[in-house]
Amino acid sequence: MGFGRFVASLFGKRTEPRAPLPEAEERDYGRSELAAYDGSDPGKPLLIGIRGQVYDVTRGRDFYGPGGPYAMFAGKDCTRALAKVSFEAELFNGNTDGLEPDELEKLEEWIEMFEGKYRRIGRLL
Ligand code: HEM
Repeated sequence: MGFGRFVASLFGKRTEPRAPLPEAEERDYGRSELAAYDGSDPGKPLLIGIRGQVYDVTRGRDFYGPGGPYAMFAGKDCTRALAKVSFEAELFNGNTDGLEPDELEKLEEWIEMFEGKYRRIGRLL
């Protein structure tokens, strides 16, 4: 082992780059189409839908990729689940009917986070 690699290993740095991330296409996505971007194909980006918009969350693959704590978000409309801060499968849809003011506020906070951290690539049709 060379000195550089030895030092890198002490700090837990990766000496080999990870495979390049798949690029998400900037366009609108149909609801049924989104499901193909759920992480089951490592060659495809990870996409999620929130309140009519699609975000590329590929760089957050440790959260949303297979085996991640939020893997169930990938390829889905997460609007209602995020508003209610719940993982219940039946909440992964775009229905905002009857959400309480605090839930709508929570949803806004999530959207702000996604806007800041990820790329919005199109509309969820
Ligand atoms: C068991 C309860 C939970 C714990 C302990 C927890 C813990 C955490 C922690 C520590 C982070 C920050 C990770 C980081 O930035 O390194 C995080 C991020 C996040 N959590 Fe949770 N969480 C919980 C439940 C939930 C639920 C119920 C939802 C939504 C339905 C949720 C959605 C998220 C999202 C969207 C992120 C941002 C991930 C990103 O940066 O892309 N979490 N959580």
